[in-house]
Amino acid sequence: MCWRSALLLLAAAAAALVVAAAGEPASTLSGPARPVTVALGNRGHAVDLPDTDPRVQRRVTGWAPEQVAVALGAGPGSAWVSWVTGEAQMGAAVEPLDPAAVRSVVRYGLAADSLVHEAAGESLVYSQLYPFDGLHNYTSGIIHHVRLQGLRPGTKYYYQCGDPTIPYAMSEVHAFRTMPAVGPTSYPGRIAVVGDLGLTYNTTTTVEHMVRNHPDLVLLLGDVTYANLYLTNGTGTDCYSCTFGHSTPIHETYQPRWDYWGRYMEPVTSSIPMMVVEGNHEIEEQIHNKTFAAYSSRFAFPSEESGSLSPFYYSFDVGGIHFIMLASYVDYKRSGIHLHIDVSGEQYRWLERDLAKVDRSVTPWLIAGWHAPWYSTYKAHYREVECMRVEMEELLYSYSVDIVFTGHVHAYERSNRVFNYTLDPCGLVHISVGDGGNREKMATSHADEPGHCPDLLSTPDPFMGGFCAFNFTSGPAAGRFCWDRQPEYSAYRESSFGHGILEVKNETHALWSWHRNQDLYDSVGDEIYIVREPDKCLTKSSRMAY
Ligand SMILES: [Fe+2]
Repeated sequence: MCWRSALLLLAAAAAALVVAAAGEPASTLSGPARPVTVALGNRGHAVDLPDTDPRVQRRVTGWAPEQVAVALGAGPGSAWVSWVTGEAQMGAAVEPLDPAAVRSVVRYGLAADSLVHEAAGESLVYSQLYPFDGLHNYTSGIIHHVRLQGLRPGTKYYYQCGDPTIPYAMSEVHAFRTMPAVGPTSYPGRIAVVGDLGLTYNTTTTVEHMVRNHPDLVLLLGDVTYANLYLTNGTGTDCYSCTFGHSTPIHETYQPRWDYWGRYMEPVTSSIPMMVVEGNHEIEEQIHNKTFAAYSSRFAFPSEESGSLSPFYYSFDVGGIHFIMLASYVDYKRSGIHLHIDVSGEQYRWLERDLAKVDRSVTPWLIAGWHAPWYSTYKAHYREVECMRVEMEELLYSYSVDIVFTGHVHAYERSNRVFNYTLDPCGLVHISVGDGGNREKMATSHADEPGHCPDLLSTPDPFMGGFCAFNFTSGPAAGRFCWDRQPEYSAYRESSFGHGILEVKNETHALWSWHRNQDLYDSVGDEIYIVREPDKCLTKSSRMAY
């Protein structure tokens, strides 16, 4: 072969590579991908926004609304508008505001100058109380939740919220778009998926980046503000247990961080519906062992509408997708006796009922979300929620849940189709997203720390429901977890921060893309078509179709 022919051949090979690289994204139809680990890149600047940042400071006076947010109802016909009025208080003695002092009203309509509909709602305050000398207590501003009903699907609504009977107590006019009609051929353009947001400079990068991708809906998979990395005097740390763990009588929080977060996020949350599920940083213990006060009070959930009656787990429909949000930190066991404790199995029973109601001819896609991943090969939080997986995986598998989204690990990982640690052509695709919302252990406990993961957890965590780590010394999971031996179910992992975008194209195809903070806005870190194969995999749905 002459040198000219050799060059031509080389050029052709290079061109083929370029085409392959620039071609269609990979697809789950090709079967399990070989595990890929991407080397640790620049993960940005995980330092909290200070209270002096204008984006977190109170910008309203009197009873004017702030921290305005929109959440979805169980279907496109309803939505929640939430906001805060009045000033929160911190101190040894705090006096809760009277929620009745200001009304909860939303005026809305199809044009900014035609807010012809009106809905009223409810208001509440919550307190975070620490009965220990020297600690500061907190009581919130008045938090309002108003449910709008009878909305048209796929329609832009303009709204103002507040109290129209008090001067200067109505918000400016905001607008949001309702989700498309429920049905197998109707889908939103882009669903953004984020977790572990917090309020750091990384958060601002993630949120700005996400907004440029124009999502129609945001899923926030827990760990919202990291207010529990602060003492009640406002002193923060990278790692609470390292810095304060032995010197404080209770795990403190600094609740004004919630208000800072609500203010920073308002431009997004007032115009793009956001659905939140709780993470471990929302537990926030206080007086009388009360937990989750800020989370439960500040967000609205379609809990009643979806029959759960709990802020911790609920479901909703968006076009041809049925979303189920589950709780990693409340009882997820089947009812009965577990570890000598009588458990109600309330969440599990609700999940059974909810799954049984899903009509796949109407909502072909079934997508679940919760905070702590079942399938994570990172060392941080490794195996934490094994008990939840043991209880619930078979049920989700039997109803052919398509995708699971989680957060918690501050790193990105996507699984091949997996069930019970085994590659399975009808298994679930688990995707864990991460962000730099807190600084805790970031430099030492994630992908950048090689080595063997321990075989047993030393202490069971009561919030995780007990001790199920024996599953890792015998049975299907044994020896199949570790950073230095990427298991076959782990398709792609990279300890980057960012956001994901899910674009469901039709009844069978959805494009998932991972957008890393360090990349240019139009580039993608990981991308795959997730393809449903209902002929092969719909095993239990009571109303099968497709
Ligand atoms: Fe977490």
